[in-house]
Amino acid sequence: MKMNKRIKINPFAYKVDPINETISNPDTHIIRKLSSMKGQYADTKSYEEMLLKEDRILYEVYEKLVPEIEGGLLQGMSIVHPGKVGREYFMTKGHFHLILDTAEFYYCIKGNGYMMMENPEGGWAAEELSPDTVLYVPGRWAHRSINIKADEDLVTIFAYPANAGHDYATIETRGFRKLVFEENGKPEIMDNPKWIE
Ligand code: PA5
Ligand code: NI
Repeated sequence: MKMNKRIKINPFAYKVDPINETISNPDTHIIRKLSSMKGQYADTKSYEEMLLKEDRILYEVYEKLVPEIEGGLLQGMSIVHPGKVGREYFMTKGHFHLILDTAEFYYCIKGNGYMMMENPEGGWAAEELSPDTVLYVPGRWAHRSINIKADEDLVTIFAYPANAGHDYATIETRGFRKLVFEENGKPEIMDNPKWIE
């Protein structure tokens, strides 16, 4: 009989700290700056001008690492800072999962924003995020968090299959179908003029 290769991991618990926007004893702290978002914002001129002034931190992620095996759940906290590039709000890169059919769970603990989502079949959806919103991103749906507040972080807790992996390349080359801009002081969802079918 073939033996299943098992990776031993003990149960663990940790605290979410909404005031300091962190989790206890994170294994990673990923910092994404403006320079890592080249080509992602519609207003290229504003992007370049901003970058010349300062390579600002746009978002951060704390993770609890687990073995990247089928059946595992990778969890952490995502923090998108407030701000805009031109009229487009600060946002995460966004990605499909490499194993396309894997879903993701989100729980918003602070701030206001959108989860922009789209699938390869032509569907798109933008769900509003506010404190205590629980969001289910089904398998096949790329996802990007967008902070629409001027002065507050957007903080979410996430969990997804540990073996899912990230496909950033598709979004980096093609973008999302829809973008969120500030229009007369309010967020508005618009077509991405640069979106490639
Ligand atoms: O797994 C997720 O979808 C989140 O943890 C994101 O990785 C996080 O919000 C950062 O976004 P991205 O991975 O698109 O840079
Ligand atoms: Ni994901």
